[in-house]
Amino acid sequence: MCGIVGYLGSKQVVPLLLDGLKRLEYRGYDSAGVVVRQNGDLRTVRAEGKLEKLVQKLEGKIPPGTYGLGHTRWATHGEPSERNAHPMIDSKGRVAIIHNGIIENFLPLKRRLQDEGWSFSSETDTEVAANLISSYLEEDLRAAVTRAAGELEGMYALAVVSTVGDPEIVVTRQGPPLVVGFGDGEQFLASDPAALIAHTKDVVFLENRDVARLTAEGIEIWDETGERVERPVTRLNWDPIQVEKGGYKHFMLKEIHEQPLAVQETFAGRVDFENQRVLLDDLNLDPDQARAVSKIDILACGTSWHAGLVGKFLIQGLAGIPVEVDYGSEFRYRDPIVTPTDIALGISQSGETADTLSALEAAGERGARLFSICNVPGSQIVRMTDGVIYTHAGPEIGVASTKAFTTQLVALYLLALYLRQTRKGGIEPELLQALAHLPAAVDEVLQLEPQLERLARDYSRANDFLYLGRGLNYPIALEGALKLKEISYIHAEGYPAGEMKHGPIALIDEDLPIVAIATGERVYEKVRSNMQEAKARDGIVIALTDREPAEFEGIAREVIQVPRVSEELQPIINVIPLQMLAYHVGVKRGADVDQPRNLAKSVTVE
Ligand code: AGP
Repeated sequence: MCGIVGYLGSKQVVPLLLDGLKRLEYRGYDSAGVVVRQNGDLRTVRAEGKLEKLVQKLEGKIPPGTYGLGHTRWATHGEPSERNAHPMIDSKGRVAIIHNGIIENFLPLKRRLQDEGWSFSSETDTEVAANLISSYLEEDLRAAVTRAAGELEGMYALAVVSTVGDPEIVVTRQGPPLVVGFGDGEQFLASDPAALIAHTKDVVFLENRDVARLTAEGIEIWDETGERVERPVTRLNWDPIQVEKGGYKHFMLKEIHEQPLAVQETFAGRVDFENQRVLLDDLNLDPDQARAVSKIDILACGTSWHAGLVGKFLIQGLAGIPVEVDYGSEFRYRDPIVTPTDIALGISQSGETADTLSALEAAGERGARLFSICNVPGSQIVRMTDGVIYTHAGPEIGVASTKAFTTQLVALYLLALYLRQTRKGGIEPELLQALAHLPAAVDEVLQLEPQLERLARDYSRANDFLYLGRGLNYPIALEGALKLKEISYIHAEGYPAGEMKHGPIALIDEDLPIVAIATGERVYEKVRSNMQEAKARDGIVIALTDREPAEFEGIAREVIQVPRVSEELQPIINVIPLQMLAYHVGVKRGADVDQPRNLAKSVTVE
């Protein structure tokens, strides 16, 4: 994950920037850099690799200066290299910028700027923003940043310094967090308060599309309409555990909120948006081998098994390869038919789940090549498989999987695209554009939290819940039910909506909340009919939909309206309100949401 820090004051800036970056080290990154304004010029030092490499490079030649920016980068556009590292300077050398996020419309902007004579020395989307801001820069950096930000689509947290005017740093965000901190005659900024608390406790969390200017006098903030605003100052009296939880009450909530960045990191560096290609180097499945695959056996447990069920739709739909999905604990006891052209794909967040490992072993004994999707480098599943797609979700501490699940879905989408590319000759640009837009849509769906908290209050005393979905959303119904069971100890069933009439309909009465997922086109009308059937039996229908709430008048008591994304990525959006619902119901019922009873983060026994 990219890390952002900045300082403006009277102290030497580079040691402060390095200290802040060090506190963000846990996020992982592939390059780092700093920029300082010195005698009217912007001086950057950047290095590929760990922060240590940057520190070595700076040894004995720390650029003097009292304001600047520091960045740790996790590649999204362009390989990890010094050339692609931040800070980025525009081609006229007037602004330096650090950036976290994805600028979805970077290609048309780049072409336009190239036509206007701006040049590019990296493959990053960040350099597009640098040139764009510079193209609008006259006297006022804030005006230039505001104007450029108005043209950017996607997600970004940006911090900018320039060669013009008095010392100042201008920042803005849309999606990824940015926090500014007040000191005595000095101001700070960071992507994460953890980088600030050694220096200041008084901070402001910027709202989306805020623009803030840090100067020696203080911090001024403008909202998205251009109005000067005062944002509430938060005092961070955090103990070390709170620091770890990033100020959230529970790890689970923090991890739910990390998903915009987590999903982005899963595809970061693996998609060449300019040439429309997916690159899965660690997978070790070359194009010839990919073309020869006759069947894929997905093996997993729990939430990872639900990811596998979505994966089946994705791989069959996008690459035309037959897929079977088994519980790890069932596979080897059913005499599966496996041939040497089959591949077995184990999905495991921890990489240590005994049932999944045994199932993979059984597939290997029958001649399949073994692959994995995993979040933990060096874990057992990685060691026993020929290739891996790491989810790069970052550590997941809450026992209930949240970001591990959504990133598994992204990894499966990447795999399906890679197989499509090798077997069908290419990937349509819209399939990649949908991915670029995903982090912003995930950020948008998180804004539904107040509604989910209210629903949790209203329904937390229910004894049972029913979750319904069809097609790609059936596994999401299963996952919604599993989350609620784990976190709140309320009994919940996930069912294919069309199956309801074959049994579970008998459960419906006026006390049963039924969460029905009705998004997309394919089975929308069918699910809506299933909702009507539930309503006719007095059930409390809660619709989760990408349509207007009016379409559910007289059917649903509650409507959770989520943003619409591509059909293949919609499950990622749909599951997030269900995670938040489970979380808030668990909290309302006083359950230990981070460590639910009887559960363990990795289940290493069969
Ligand atoms: C998810 O919330 C669960 N705690 C559980 O179902 C989990 O997904 C399962 O045990 C598999 O774990 P893994 O992904 O680490 O293999």
